[in-house]
Amino acid sequence: MDVKQQVLSYLELNKGKTFSGAKLAEKIGVSRTAIWKAVKSLEEKGYKITASTNKGYSLCDDNDKLSPQSIKPYLDSDIKDSEIIVFDTIDSTNTYAKEIASQGAKEFTVVIAEEQTKGKGRLGRTFYSPHSKGIYMSIILRPEMSAKQALLITTSTAVAVSDAIDDICNISTQIKWVNDIYYNEKKLCGILTEASIDFETGGLEYAIVGIGINVSTTQNDLPDDVSQIATSIYGDKETINRSALIGKILNNLNLYVNNLGDKSILDKYRERSFLIGREINVIKSDSTTPAIATGITDNAELIVQYKNGRTETLNSGEVSVRAIK
Ligand code: BTN
Repeated sequence: MDVKQQVLSYLELNKGKTFSGAKLAEKIGVSRTAIWKAVKSLEEKGYKITASTNKGYSLCDDNDKLSPQSIKPYLDSDIKDSEIIVFDTIDSTNTYAKEIASQGAKEFTVVIAEEQTKGKGRLGRTFYSPHSKGIYMSIILRPEMSAKQALLITTSTAVAVSDAIDDICNISTQIKWVNDIYYNEKKLCGILTEASIDFETGGLEYAIVGIGINVSTTQNDLPDDVSQIATSIYGDKETINRSALIGKILNNLNLYVNNLGDKSILDKYRERSFLIGREINVIKSDSTTPAIATGITDNAELIVQYKNGRTETLNSGEVSVRAIK
């Protein structure tokens, strides 16, 4: 770690506290000039640091710039050493994660960006990712499982994220099958899981779990058609410590991916369902059919019942909630 990263680590661990240049120099084992240069460079990169002549330096409590140093203090011990890569801007964290996964990146490597210029959603859609307004993050997983079971990764991620948001932000979110998180009837977060399959064994080589959360995104940040169906945790009112939320999501995810298929995760998924009991439309390439969502199977498939009484179990695809007329 260079001096700048060491100073940042120390200030992140002691956020809000003030340290003299001499104290930091002694802690890190470098000169006061090296500390001064490191602080200057961190400030130039956008870290909110107060520097007062007599007292010294402190990282402001409301500094919300993401870095490995800002996230690591929130991680459970068994994932504290995971590699966390943070970009200021990138095309898509999923694309980058896929690239490094195919080159052998370790399980639970995390890729985060403050902004994505080509954020990807499901079904070829765009995920709008304005700078510092959200959490755009991809995690590389290498669970030993067949490709058929991969749906469980998405559902476990949805529970991990929904749980973490509720805990940290004190709100109540729901999960819209299969992978969207809803808040006050609007979409707050989308999850895109991409996988590479080993064709010889039929097993999963790796999975990339991409999570996009609107944290302080406002309607002005999104195109009109998206802003009508999307929401964010705080809008422009206030914001949260994004690092704490990321930490909680990663801790939950680590727990859940080590227990994929656990009944209690699916029970939570069902409890949080946005769809069960609702009138929906089942959208297929050639048809849109009204139905009622009646349940979720143990394999995380959606059970629907059509007007003629026929039931169907869906394992992929798209459904929308029908507007009440
Ligand atoms: C959806 O709503 O259809 C899924 C959206 C997934 C967005 C996240 S943001 C981080 C990761 N990188 C991407 O390009 N997409 C996912």
